[in-house]
Amino acid sequence: MTIFPKEIYWQRRKMLRELVGEGVILFPGNEESSMNYRSNYYHYRQDSTFLYFFGINRPGFFGLCDVDEQKDILYGDDFGIDDIIWMGEQPAVRDLAAKVGVELSASSESLGTFLKQTLQKGRKVHILPPYRGDHVITLSQLTGVSQDQVQEMVSQVLIGAVVKLRSVKDHHEIAEIEKAADVAGIMHTTAMKMAYPGNYERELAGAVEGIALAHGGPVSFPVILSMDGQILHNHYHGKELVEGRMVVCDAGAESAMCYASDITRTFPVGGKFSAQQKDIYNIVLKANTETIKASLPGRTYREVHLMAAKIIAGGLKELGIMKGDLDEAVAAGAHALFFPHGLGHMLGLDVHDMEGLGENHVGYNDAVKRSDQFGLAYLRLGRKLEPGFVVTNEPGCYFIPALIDQWKEEKKLEQFINYGQVEKYRGFGGVRIEDDVLISDQGSRVLGTPIPKTVEEVEDTMRV
Ligand code: GLY
Repeated sequence: MTIFPKEIYWQRRKMLRELVGEGVILFPGNEESSMNYRSNYYHYRQDSTFLYFFGINRPGFFGLCDVDEQKDILYGDDFGIDDIIWMGEQPAVRDLAAKVGVELSASSESLGTFLKQTLQKGRKVHILPPYRGDHVITLSQLTGVSQDQVQEMVSQVLIGAVVKLRSVKDHHEIAEIEKAADVAGIMHTTAMKMAYPGNYERELAGAVEGIALAHGGPVSFPVILSMDGQILHNHYHGKELVEGRMVVCDAGAESAMCYASDITRTFPVGGKFSAQQKDIYNIVLKANTETIKASLPGRTYREVHLMAAKIIAGGLKELGIMKGDLDEAVAAGAHALFFPHGLGHMLGLDVHDMEGLGENHVGYNDAVKRSDQFGLAYLRLGRKLEPGFVVTNEPGCYFIPALIDQWKEEKKLEQFINYGQVEKYRGFGGVRIEDDVLISDQGSRVLGTPIPKTVEEVEDTMRV
């Protein structure tokens, strides 16, 4: 188990207690999760907020911060010989606690008694929104409140405090994301080199996932890899690669400490972009590179998203696909026929960092509210950028037949869209290009070793 120096966890919990102000904060760690029978588990993944404050990447623990008493306690049980013969020697709970700067540890049985007494005394118990059913059941059993009432313990103050702390990454965390990005670089260049007619999507997807595993982490989310890049999150990998199509590969790795990378590259089957593919690819590339430069502290990510939208609309206008005034087209959301998702999201211990706490709590605030316009509504991060944020930058341009048909039939925004010209791209698929970007006072920086991205770099990488 790899962990940061214990002072880091101690300091994080101290800041958390100060921000929350009163009561008791409870972080349930994740348990094993069964696949098809009890002891056949999915890959174990610790809860990210538990990792952030308590660092222990193992099942069977609860972390508690007693704000009023200014102390932290790790709850968990030592293993007996029956477990050790299957699992090998295991560290004692108190030794694990010491590694993350927690002085007190106690058995999980005593947690229920403590929580029930805490509630009876009228003290507040703060929890984050549970996202696993077993958490709801366990929290209900531990506190004695019904499963429905568990939701009432979800604390807005705690959500706000956790978002504030986890949003800004320190240099240890940035180094972890950078390691994950480096592994993703190997994943993507390998997929490029394999993208030749006769190979199957699944062979590329398997190689990509295998590289993440071989470097110690799993993938940070299920691999998206497909010639049908117009399907934004396509997890079907069954097709044989054919000349003339492109592959969208959206994949990342987890570092040993569970920090994620999330990177996308698009490359032509056979190693050479067609003229039409190059046209669209270079529009997306420009949106990616220009908006990375523009991702500066103080600017809202919504502004940066709209800048990407305008670059894409401008490129499509040059190709005769869009028309009219670009500012008006983007304000009306016409670009969203081709770029229907957001420019990016926070990245950290989660790929969509902290999304389990509520996307609007992470990406929006009183100053920047989420739009309900098609396309812009999918932007996960809209608020002002701050130094230490790590965000994805992932513009795309897609030709989605069902969406084109719907808009065309409705004559939607036809003052900005040449539907006749759009037809020439119907079977095109899509292009997405994504990097992981650190926001800092010195400007923005793409994390990890550069991964081939221009047309020339991609074609050179694919040359056999
Ligand atoms: N790259 C996958 C996602 O952002 O959902």
